[in-house]
Amino acid sequence: MPAEDILRIEGVSMQFTGGAGLFGRRNRTTVRAVDEVNLSVRKGETLGLVGESGCGKTTLGRCILRAHKPSHGRILYRRDDGTEVDLAALSRAQLRPLRTEIRTVFQDPNSSLNPRMTVQQIVGEPLVVNGLARGSEVADRVADTLRRCGLRPELMRRYPHAFSGGERQRIGIARALVTQPRLVVADEAVSALDVSVRSQILNLLEDLQEELDLTYVFISHDLSVIQHLCDRVAVMYLGRIVEEAETEDLFEQPRHPYTEALLRSVPRPDPRLRRRDDVLPAGEVPAPDEAFAGCRFQPRCRYAEDICAREEPATLPRCHFAEDLTLDGVYATDVRQTS
Ligand SMILES: Nc1ncnc2c1ncn2[C@@H]1O[C@H](COP(=O)(O)OP(=O)(O)OP(=O)(O)O)[C@@H](O)[C@H]1O
Ligand code: SF4
Ligand SMILES: [Mg+2]
Repeated sequence: MPAEDILRIEGVSMQFTGGAGLFGRRNRTTVRAVDEVNLSVRKGETLGLVGESGCGKTTLGRCILRAHKPSHGRILYRRDDGTEVDLAALSRAQLRPLRTEIRTVFQDPNSSLNPRMTVQQIVGEPLVVNGLARGSEVADRVADTLRRCGLRPELMRRYPHAFSGGERQRIGIARALVTQPRLVVADEAVSALDVSVRSQILNLLEDLQEELDLTYVFISHDLSVIQHLCDRVAVMYLGRIVEEAETEDLFEQPRHPYTEALLRSVPRPDPRLRRRDDVLPAGEVPAPDEAFAGCRFQPRCRYAEDICAREEPATLPRCHFAEDLTLDGVYATDVRQTS
């Protein structure tokens, strides 16, 4: 893979085979949560992964973390010494040393922290489990990491309940960073937080990235968070990446109708900027099963034509009319509404 990439996802699919389907007990349903995804992550960047609920963001993140073993495809990861490994092919034992390099920040700091463990135990656990430190060294590294995350190390003998929501998420971030990872997959890391503390945590993540030379894959359904934090964005719909772009370009000039629809659905605080069609096109997100021949967005797309039901566009942006359509970005919408 190119030298600037730390991660390269090639043709990755993840399917789940569930229980009885709609048509009786014998029909088992297969959900293609992630379907033939190709995606590169450059070292030091923040790559955003955005899309509606159920489109496969978490599943893709869990494949990178190897919490899931992908059904197909390769996940190439470049280690510090320049060697490449395919995470998708590694055994449990081979993965062990990588568990400290690729870490995650959980969504909900209230449920992800064990209430019966002290902060020192919570943050120190990955060091102990991975054999990275022992005894007083654990406490020292925990203290150092807490300090970096804006928490007073004196408080590390306390339990999570003694902390506010924002502080608990700082503890969760410290737990991710204590092993000195290189790549962090943050899945809805600020979604459970009050708006008032959200920007503090986002700023912290940005500062830590710079200080510690981190690469982030940042998963969120919240476009304003993505816009604030990410260098590049990949938009997911029903298991597929449909568009990928630099953040500014994506918000200014989306190239896939689904991206445009997502941008339009962002709530605008100023009622003068609200549009009557500020909602996603009607229709539930259909279950990502195998029965789809055409463009997956076709049932909801305002620009759909006959070909869209028959053929799926094969390259990004995954739209037959990407070259012909002039889609509205957020700025275009605002300008038109105020003029
Ligand atoms: N362990 C599982 N077993 C069966 N189906 C699953 C499993 N995990 C996810 N799915 C299905 O895969 C699809 C993608 O789910 P996923 O959680 O990855 O979406 P998401 O984009 O993270 O959604 P959200 O924004 O709600 O977090 C959904 O249809 C979901 O029901
Ligand atoms: S391919 Fe057709 S249905 Fe799909 S996004 Fe483009 S215009 Fe819409
Ligand atoms: Mg999710």
